Amino acid sequence: MKISRLSQETKQEHNSQTEQFAIDVLTGLCSNPKNISAKYFYDDKGSELFQKITQHKDYYPTRIEYQILDNIKRDLPNLFDSDEIDIIELGAGDGHKSQLIIQGFLDCQKKVNFYPIDISEKAMVLMEQHISANPKLDIHRVVGEYFEGLRFVRKNSSNPLLVLFLGSNIGNFDRTQNQGFLRKLWKCLNDSDHLLVGFDLKKDVEILTRAYNDSAGYTRDFNLNLLHRINCELGADFNLKKFQHFGSYNPLLGAMESFLLATEKQDVFISELERSFRFEAYEPLHLEYSFKFLKSDIESLSALTGFEVVEHFTDPDDYFMDSLWRVSKGENHKLPLNLYVV
Ligand SMILES: C[S@@+](CC[C@H](N)C(=O)[O-])C[C@H]1O[C@@H](n2cnc3c(N)ncnc32)[C@H](O)[C@@H]1O
Repeated sequence: MKISRLSQETKQEHNSQTEQFAIDVLTGLCSNPKNISAKYFYDDKGSELFQKITQHKDYYPTRIEYQILDNIKRDLPNLFDSDEIDIIELGAGDGHKSQLIIQGFLDCQKKVNFYPIDISEKAMVLMEQHISANPKLDIHRVVGEYFEGLRFVRKNSSNPLLVLFLGSNIGNFDRTQNQGFLRKLWKCLNDSDHLLVGFDLKKDVEILTRAYNDSAGYTRDFNLNLLHRINCELGADFNLKKFQHFGSYNPLLGAMESFLLATEKQDVFISELERSFRFEAYEPLHLEYSFKFLKSDIESLSALTGFEVVEHFTDPDDYFMDSLWRVSKGENHKLPLNLYVV
C-alpha cells in the first residue's frame, strides 16, 4: 500500500501547518461563541478515539451504514460498465466500510484502484487492519486535505470514477457550506462520474442524544483530546478537568452540536499565540455540528449542486441513507442563481 503525504514532508511545511492551526484557534477563541474547527479532532489519539466511538453500541451511524453498504456491495458494480474503476474516498478513516465496497467490485472481477484521502496519517495506518492485498487491487493512500488530495489523485486517474464521502462527514458542514463543498467537488469531477454520500437522517432525539453522549465516555474523551492537542502543539495550559462535554440536538438547525463547557471561570494561556483567553463559568466552546437530513433535503442538495440521484439506499428503520449520485454537466443543467460557491 503506497502512501503519499501532501504536507509535512519538510520542516517548513510542518511549521506552516502549525501556524495555520494557531491562526484557526486564535480566530475561534476570539469569536462569540468560542469555537474550534472539527477538522482538528483527528490527530493520532483523536483517530483512535473516533474508531472506539464508532464501535460503541450507542453510536448507531457507523453500524447502520455498514449494514447498508454490506447489502448493496454486490449491486453497486453493476452500475459501472468498465472492467476497471477508480475509487476515491474523502476522509476515509480506518477504511472498514471502504473494504465492503472494494470487495463488491473485486467479487465482480473488476480491477480497483483505491485512493483513500485523509488528513490523519493515523487513520491511514489503521486502514491496514481492514483492507487486504489482492492482485486486482491497487491502493494509494494520500495524507492531506480533501481537495488537495483530490487534485493530486485526479492527475493519475483516467478510469470511471466513484467518489465515496461516507460516515455523514457531509453533516459537519452547515446547510450553506455543504452546497459550496459539493459544488466544488462537482467542478473537480467529469460528467457521469459517481458520488456515494452518507447522510444521517432525522430521527428520535433520544437516539441522537445517546449516540453523541456514549456511555463509555469516548465522545467526551474525543472532544477533550482537542484541548490536549492544543496543549501539546501550541503550548497551551488547558486544564482538561475544568471542561465538561455536552452534546445536544438543536431542532431549529436540525443538528447535533458538541460543546465543551468551562466548569469555572478561568484563563488559558497559549504560548504559540503569546496571549491568554478568558472563559466565564459554564461558557460553551463549540466544537462540532452534525446536521441531520430528510430525504427531500438530500434531493434538493443534489439538484442544487449539479448531481442527479441514481438511487437512495437506506436501512429498515430509516436511520441512515447512502445516496448514489451521478455528475451531470449537460447543457440543460441550470443552477439557481443564489447558489453559494466556494
Ligand atoms: C467522522 S470520520 C469518518 C471516517 C469514515 N469516513 C467513516 O465513515 O467511518 C471523519 C474522517 O475525515 C477526516 N477528515 C476530516 N476533515 C478532513 C479534511 N478537511 N480533509 C481530509 N480528511 C478530513 C478525519 O481525519 C476522519 O478520519
